[in-house]
Amino acid sequence: MPDYAIKTSGLTVEFGNNIILDNINVEIENGDFVAIVGPNGSGKTTFLKALLSIVKPSSGEIKIFGKELDKIKPGEIGYVPQIKTIDRSFPANSIELVLSGVRNRWLGVKSREDKKLALHALELVGAADYARKQISELSGGQLQRVYLARCFASNPKLLLLDEPATGVDLVCESTINELIEEFNKKRGVTVLMVTHDWTAAYHHTNKVMLLNKQLIYYGNKNEAFTELNLMKTFSHLGHKHKVTFGLKSYE
Ligand SMILES: Nc1ncnc2c1ncn2[C@@H]1O[C@H](COP(=O)(O)OP(=O)(O)OP(=O)(O)O)[C@@H](O)[C@H]1O
Ligand SMILES: [Mg+2]
Repeated sequence: MPDYAIKTSGLTVEFGNNIILDNINVEIENGDFVAIVGPNGSGKTTFLKALLSIVKPSSGEIKIFGKELDKIKPGEIGYVPQIKTIDRSFPANSIELVLSGVRNRWLGVKSREDKKLALHALELVGAADYARKQISELSGGQLQRVYLARCFASNPKLLLLDEPATGVDLVCESTINELIEEFNKKRGVTVLMVTHDWTAAYHHTNKVMLLNKQLIYYGNKNEAFTELNLMKTFSHLGHKHKVTFGLKSYE
């Protein structure tokens, strides 16, 4: 196996006549914990969706674990979508959502072992109480936890997280961060996490990707948040007011 988890070459995505991702060349090593940072509409979710084959690139190439995307087995990639944008009208309860990540299908008979596996994963993330609730009835934070349980149960090698801590309470946020760190440090899972919280990004991850249609920066987190990099990433769309960049102090 190559020592990188993800390699993109000239990755370009267009919707209609709009270029959303422009010639992204990046190599992400196995075991890295990457924060993806950029303004609204900068292509962060689209980048994750391209890795998941949900969005088709107009040009360029993506390899994950050295393989073409159609050779990736179900369960190799865990995904927690951006909760506020997903359609959750689909009739399923938490257990079924967890098992959809393990068996890669929604319907069919669930064995006792399956239910045990799903319940165990839900317990790990503190979501056992709403195991039989419909996903349409869960709060955003509860649904985040169920999606994390889904990842836990499927044992992925790569974890793609789209704002996993946005809109959840502080206790839930620290649980989520601990769970993600466990994936990364104890299980050696490569993690890509979209976040608007630069401070969390700085403290939890080891690499940072600054994105604004183009790749502004990819590398060590210590050199990422320079004034110049942040200006290039965020100064756009004719901001009239002065924006001061920097990290909040963090205990
Ligand atoms: N299916 C689609 N069809 C057309 N345009 C799309 C589609 N999906 C995304 N876009 C556009 O692509 C751009 C990037 O969207 P994306 O969701 O990747 O941004 P983002 O960086 O995740 O933003 P946010 O921080 O708000 O989540 C936006 O301008 C968006 O309107
Ligand atoms: Mg997004």
